[in-house]
Amino acid sequence: MKLGRNEECWCHSKKKYKNCHLRIDERLEQLKEQGKLVPGHEIIKNEKQIAGIREAGKLNTEILDRVSEFIKEGISTEEINHLVHEYTISHGGIPAPLGYEGYPKSVCVSIDEVVCHGIPDKNRILKQGEIVNVDVTTILNGYFADASRMFCIGDVGQEKQKLVEFTKECLELGVQAAKPWGYLGDIGYVISQHAYENGYSVVREIGGHGVGLEFHEEPWVSHIGEPNTDMILVPGMIFTIEPMINIGAEDVYEDEKDGWTIRTKDGKPSAQWEYTLLITETGNEILTW
Ligand code: MF3
Ligand code: CO
Ligand code: CO
Repeated sequence: MKLGRNEECWCHSKKKYKNCHLRIDERLEQLKEQGKLVPGHEIIKNEKQIAGIREAGKLNTEILDRVSEFIKEGISTEEINHLVHEYTISHGGIPAPLGYEGYPKSVCVSIDEVVCHGIPDKNRILKQGEIVNVDVTTILNGYFADASRMFCIGDVGQEKQKLVEFTKECLELGVQAAKPWGYLGDIGYVISQHAYENGYSVVREIGGHGVGLEFHEEPWVSHIGEPNTDMILVPGMIFTIEPMINIGAEDVYEDEKDGWTIRTKDGKPSAQWEYTLLITETGNEILTW
């Protein structure tokens, strides 16, 4: 059933279809006929949703800023959890991880060989020389935003320091590749190429994801990709890019006791940075970092 030009747009903007998503839909229709993978309407956000997710993103960034002032040698990962939880709640938000598929805490804290989804623990004290990922996801007024950063505890040595900086560079390259009417595969391609050229490996099993109305939405964002493949990127899509880069081999495993913690098989360090990104008419906007 086709929407009339003068009917209200499907995105609930209250605007007429012809003044809203009609042109995007025409272009998507053409691309679909050419056999391209195109996003469904349910993952294209409207202006109101974008504004809401942008606000959630601002709070999420503020929380990570607080973590960066607070994090240091001698504190426990549970203290980071407490800070994130209290700051979120006191600013009207909800920490998305808490209770998500049974996850027991409000933030993920992943140290050294822990790739992601590390669970805060009052007995796990940060030590000099460790590299730490803190991954914060905030719900504000029903909208979700997701980002993570790396922190170095004192002098971590050249190898880990380089890994941390390099991984951020990979994320930034991914951001530059995220363009309207480009391909999702372009993002993973630039990230993995850069990593492989420099002797690093890229985790395959875990990727970025659509985000905004829920924690994890379509599409899944691989950090290994081929140019001109996978989904077409369209203005109004919101997703994360969150590469996990390893010094050693790409292989990872899940802790069978806690069911969450992901570690490198070879025990070598891994780093990760994550942004939530909006595809705009002209490029992209980072909604939380
Ligand atoms: N924040 C993680 C991501 O970037 C997901 C964590 S799920 C949790 O997708 F349950 F462990 F919080
Ligand atoms: Co995250
Ligand atoms: Co994420």
